[in-house]
Amino acid sequence: MKLTPGKLTPGKLTQGQLAEFDEQGYLFLPDCFSDEEVAVLRREAEAIYATDRQEVWRETSGAPRTAFAAHTYNEAFGILGAHPRLIEPVEQLFGEKLYMHQYKVNAKAAFDGEVWQWHQDYGTWARDDGMPEPRAMNIAVFLDEVMAINGPLMLIPKSHRHGTLAAGHDRQTTSYPLWTLDKETVTRLVEDGGVVAPTGKPGAVLMFHGNLVHGSAGNITPFPRKIVYLTLCAVSNHIRKPTRPDWIAHRDFTPIQAVPDDALLAYARSHRAAAE
Ligand code: SIN
Ligand code: MN
Repeated sequence: MKLTPGKLTPGKLTQGQLAEFDEQGYLFLPDCFSDEEVAVLRREAEAIYATDRQEVWRETSGAPRTAFAAHTYNEAFGILGAHPRLIEPVEQLFGEKLYMHQYKVNAKAAFDGEVWQWHQDYGTWARDDGMPEPRAMNIAVFLDEVMAINGPLMLIPKSHRHGTLAAGHDRQTTSYPLWTLDKETVTRLVEDGGVVAPTGKPGAVLMFHGNLVHGSAGNITPFPRKIVYLTLCAVSNHIRKPTRPDWIAHRDFTPIQAVPDDALLAYARSHRAAAE
């Protein structure tokens, strides 16, 4: 697997990284957030999953699948949603200000985390939300160690170059409806690009193009695999015809103003001090 060495420097993807993103459709950046920064998010995620709010979507077993919109009701996830290490590289790629189209804290719970079938996110943003162009992308932060065994996100490199592919609306396989790709399409794309599953420690960051095909298998291990996904959309590309609730596809198109780089650390320290 191809690893991009080094930290994510705010606003400064190198020419090499930009070229790699263009060719492969993703960038994997280990060591972007420290243990101290990630530990507080991990605790807050567990607390959110334990609540009974509509934004927490559950697997058929009742285990948490994802918590939507956590940046709107949780301060630590709010800070992460405006973090310069995530906002600035995506701003750099799109060349304009961003708003938050979607925000998910995916659980992939120990033993009970279910599959995410092969799909392209822009397929859903276009069909369900009326997003004009694939000028939005996910930038993800690993909250737990993502291993080969606990349902890592799998990507098909170069698949973003095929545009928006035909998909079927699958409401059966899991608790969550998804526009999924058929086996023939996935086979054809994998013959060209292969499959990668970036693994790494909490604090790693993975960004990928809205048309990059991805999915993940179930987790039958005792190790949870939490990942936060910010879906950042260029403001001029805001959605036009939403059909999903506003806590899944946001209607607030206000440009995100990044917080200071140490804001999450300051939050972690003040809340640890308050707890002691
Ligand atoms: C997604 O595709 O939106 C999530 C996949 C995962 O977290 O495994
Ligand atoms: Mn997805």
